Amino acid sequence: MKPVLFINRNMPEEMVAPLREVYEVDMWPSASGAVPREVLLEKAASAHALWTMISDQIDEEVLDASPNLKIITNMAVGYNNIDVKAAQERGVIVTNTPDVLTETTADLAFALLMATARNLMGAEHALRDGKWTSWEPLGFTGMDVYGATLGIIGMGRIGEAVLRRAKGFDMNVLYHNRNRKSEMEDMYGCRYAVLPDLLAQSDFVLILVPFSEETRGMIGKEQLEQMKKTGILINVARGGIVDEEALFEALQKKRIHAAGLDVFETEPVPLDSPLLTLPNVTVLPHIGSASLPTRLAMMKLNQQALLAWARDEEPNHRVW
Ligand code: NAP
Ligand code: GLV
Repeated sequence: MKPVLFINRNMPEEMVAPLREVYEVDMWPSASGAVPREVLLEKAASAHALWTMISDQIDEEVLDASPNLKIITNMAVGYNNIDVKAAQERGVIVTNTPDVLTETTADLAFALLMATARNLMGAEHALRDGKWTSWEPLGFTGMDVYGATLGIIGMGRIGEAVLRRAKGFDMNVLYHNRNRKSEMEDMYGCRYAVLPDLLAQSDFVLILVPFSEETRGMIGKEQLEQMKKTGILINVARGGIVDEEALFEALQKKRIHAAGLDVFETEPVPLDSPLLTLPNVTVLPHIGSASLPTRLAMMKLNQQALLAWARDEEPNHRVW
């Protein structure tokens, strides 16, 4: 009898075919809609392996409903959607997909930073709406990126990849982590800062920490007040790291200049979110890693981890 694998989204057959040789594969047929919770609970009941997305909450309820479960492979580097401690207590392996998405996500972070600084979306919409009537001396003016100070909160793999891009734009880079990275400071001439200093000195604040109980609400009213009035906040990590109510207020009252958001507390972001009413917010639907080669590379890591487990080998990128 083959072990049972439930795949939470419709995946390309080229990724699934090798899995069919070693698993009884069951797959949610939609590539776009998340698997409903009740279906996930029902499928988990017989699964030995789960291939999950960041939109699937794998908590104690799912784990308890899944007595045969041995491995969860998550199609993301972030795994805050999984209760890893509870999985570990039950001996369930958890894997993720780091590294292969680092450069693609750094590209998107920098693109969002630039788009927000120069209000590219606002300018495009104005053109399409027929509001480009003449070349105006102060029309569509934004902030400069080159030579500005970038503060990166979370100088890990993606943070370092953004740092390299920022150096090409002659930016002065500050970073904040729990641990200092002296070698990187020497190599790139960037500077460590405690969080209040980073917030106060940066023109752009870029969030790239993982979402955890430690980072939940890390940027709230107090932190937004520490930013420059001309400051721009970019969040490419997870929505819950920023207090969205406080962010709305800071943006509405022009306490900070603008924000660029690829991630939200609730995803997809509800269309009645107050943030979507503001002209000084650039929003994207969580597309950090969304280039075709990178998404395929992430799938490949998940596939390889599942194949390794089925062959009694060590799966790649275990998070415990
Ligand atoms: P990483 O290499 O683990 O880097 C995370 C960095 O954050 C580490 O340098 C870590 O350094 C720092 N950090 C962790 N907890 C912290 C805390 N409490 N305070 C200050 N710094 C802290 O991860 P990565 O591969 O760069 O990915 C980062 C995150 O980006 C992911 O977890 C994911 O949520 C997000 N992401 C989003 C997208 C997207 O599509 N928008 C795509 C990929 C990734 P210390 O341990 O020294 O603190
Ligand atoms: C995407 O958000 C990821 O964590 O890979």
